[in-house]
Amino acid sequence: MYDQAEKLRQMVQNAKSTASDHSAKAKVIAITSGKGGVGKTNFTVNLAIALASYGQKVLIIDADLGTANVDVVLGRNAGYNLMNIVEEGLSLTEIVAEGPCGIKYLSGGSGIHHLADLTNYQLHTIISQISLFDAWADIILIDTGAGLSRNVLNFVVAADEVIIITTPEPTAITDAYAMMKAYTSYQGTASVKLVVNRVFEENEGYLVTEKLVNAAMRFLDLSISGIGVIYEDRNLIKAVKKQEPVLLSYPESVSSRCIEYIAQRLLYGKNPTYSRGIKGFFTKVLEFWKQ
Ligand SMILES: Nc1ncnc2c1ncn2[C@@H]1O[C@H](COP(=O)(O)OP(=O)(O)OP(=O)(O)O)[C@@H](O)[C@H]1O
Ligand SMILES: [Mg+2]
Repeated sequence: MYDQAEKLRQMVQNAKSTASDHSAKAKVIAITSGKGGVGKTNFTVNLAIALASYGQKVLIIDADLGTANVDVVLGRNAGYNLMNIVEEGLSLTEIVAEGPCGIKYLSGGSGIHHLADLTNYQLHTIISQISLFDAWADIILIDTGAGLSRNVLNFVVAADEVIIITTPEPTAITDAYAMMKAYTSYQGTASVKLVVNRVFEENEGYLVTEKLVNAAMRFLDLSISGIGVIYEDRNLIKAVKKQEPVLLSYPESVSSRCIEYIAQRLLYGKNPTYSRGIKGFFTKVLEFWKQ
């Protein structure tokens, strides 16, 4: 019988041995939450636009299996997904969609969570194609979907940086904490940052941040840092209805300004993180599936 684990081990080994081929490596940031519907996708898309406006080359990967909707928020359809590389022999340039402000968008498709089922050759094809982004992108944002399933956690733990989104609602806070707990039990080592979305006043966001930072440190020995708050904003809801990112529809609105501020902190904040690049990221994702 063909040994799936051995196959993946070899695949990881091969990817590792050539992981240093690319001198430029994109920083991979996973955007996640415990509870669904707290604003991950809108944050991902608008953060990408804000980062692009600061001159960054940004790729978004939609790895949300349940409610993949980056294209709905962007108002553009990717058409193809990552699995079309192996299923139809398409190249990376054929499956990547162009978003506004020069951002690129790639849909993982439902197959992204079944990488371990692919043949060695198929895995190699996907990894070598996707690695091309290490030369192009500065930042890769991954919308992971919500919840504590292994599908989500594999992506979260493999990223260079993790941004957890919550709202001030007690259920969302509890679920954000559960995500942090799961992250530590998966031995995650990335820099973990917190965004509190849909706040009515700044202090509300700071109180939630303080609560989670303290609980994570005290009970999980996990150091997280608050990276900003986003106000509740009717313009964001209007933009969603128009299928346009709020940063483009209402650049002066309060949520747009908050997201721009977060982008600045990510780019120019202290403690820059080491980037493994997209190749290193997928290599690590495969390592987790192999376990
Ligand atoms: N700052 C905000 N102000 C007002 N409404 C907001 C804000 N952020 C998000 N929303 C509302 O929440 C909805 C869900 O947002 P979004 O789709 O980004 O969440 P999600 O976390 O990606 O959801 P899912 O877990 O289903 O993927 C938006 O359509 C919008 O109506
Ligand atoms: Mg979403």
